Amino acid sequence: MMARKTYIIANWKMNFTPGEASLYLHRLADKIPAMRNVQVVLAPSLISLQTLSLQINRRQFKLAAQNFYWRDYGAYTGEVSVSQIRGFVDYAIVGHSERRYVFNESDKDIAQKVAAAIRNGLTPVLCIGETATERRNGETNSAIYSQLLGGLSEVSEEDINKVIIAYEPVWAISSNKNARPANPSDIAEAQRVIRHQIAKLYGEAVALDIPILYGGSVSKDTAAGYLDIAGIDGLLIGGASLIADSFCAIVESAKGKYNER
Ligand code: PGA
Repeated sequence: MMARKTYIIANWKMNFTPGEASLYLHRLADKIPAMRNVQVVLAPSLISLQTLSLQINRRQFKLAAQNFYWRDYGAYTGEVSVSQIRGFVDYAIVGHSERRYVFNESDKDIAQKVAAAIRNGLTPVLCIGETATERRNGETNSAIYSQLLGGLSEVSEEDINKVIIAYEPVWAISSNKNARPANPSDIAEAQRVIRHQIAKLYGEAVALDIPILYGGSVSKDTAAGYLDIAGIDGLLIGGASLIADSFCAIVESAKGKYNER
């Protein structure tokens, strides 16, 4: 049996100016201790990454990119590569549903981003999850399978242990109209399906080991319940991560979680 880390990842999305992000970081830093079993990761806007990276205590927080372009350099006006930000971040969110559905990112784009993150020494957090229509049509498992297959298509057996999966059903994400929180039983089932697919692709040991997070309308009231689901190794938090009290309460609820496999 191995003790496992719990990940609490804050996705600030397109909120906070660099000044606001800095102030907010200070508030969090006063309230959240450095912990061995809980990894708190903050994903600010790209524009705030450099400033925050100079301010954070890396034993307390790590930083994540919300987005980047997969090529390392070149004539790509307006884009920022992982190789340009790798000094600031340790993690990179890839395949978030807002990237898939607002910016039309395909599984191929996502696979290239996952590969670019790994190539540059970052941990990709690959987000997958079915839409409301897919769930209604009984296509939840096939949506999960195809996003995993697509997103991991460039990841070798040696590198799969560098990947984190976040299960985020699109209908549960607060930015969606009619969003509603997922039931723990749906999440438990989805993580089983994900591990089953990972086992087919990379073997049982990898499937048991890969961290799987849940994201979608997590609040300070629901976090502990989600963290109790067997096989769920942490949370990806949008809206509630923008409010210091909520976010700190969520981190607090992760402290008591001791994951074993
Ligand atoms: P939410 O966002 O917590 O506001 O639903 C989660 C996410 O988009 O990752």
